[in-house]
Amino acid sequence: ATNRTFTMIKPDATQENHIGGILSMIEAGGFRIVALKKLNLSAERAGKFYEVHAERPFYGDLVKYMSSGPIVAAILEKDNAVADFRTLIGATNPEQAAEGTIRKKYAKSIEANAVHGSDSDDNAKIEGDFFFAADEQF
Ligand code: CMP
Repeated sequence: ATNRTFTMIKPDATQENHIGGILSMIEAGGFRIVALKKLNLSAERAGKFYEVHAERPFYGDLVKYMSSGPIVAAILEKDNAVADFRTLIGATNPEQAAEGTIRKKYAKSIEANAVHGSDSDDNAKIEGDFFFAADEQF
């Protein structure tokens, strides 16, 4: 496995002042932040980022939600980063997220679920490069 993954802190969590709390849990979990920025995603960019979900029933709402306020994008480094980060964030649906996970603590619903985490090494690279130029990845 490569040693990097990609995450976004989503609009619900940035709106409610949880950026610091979430980044703290990420660093405490053994991840190094190797790229970081706060930005607004346009609906068009959000749609492109989540293009793989374009046929899913929740896609329209997801695009609207992800462009409703600022997000924080980051690339994270750790051995076994993709799998270990998915463990740290917990299940997509916060009702199913384990105790001690980021989503258990901060997610509000299956859509407003506080954070995104890449689901494969290939997607981690694609998603990180979507937000960060080479000289922004340390
Ligand atoms: P994320 O891991 O970023 O990937 C796709 C996102 O779609 C997901 O988190 C949720 O924010 C959102 N979503 C909304 N409804 C669903 C659903 N039923 N299943 C999966 N993802 C959903």
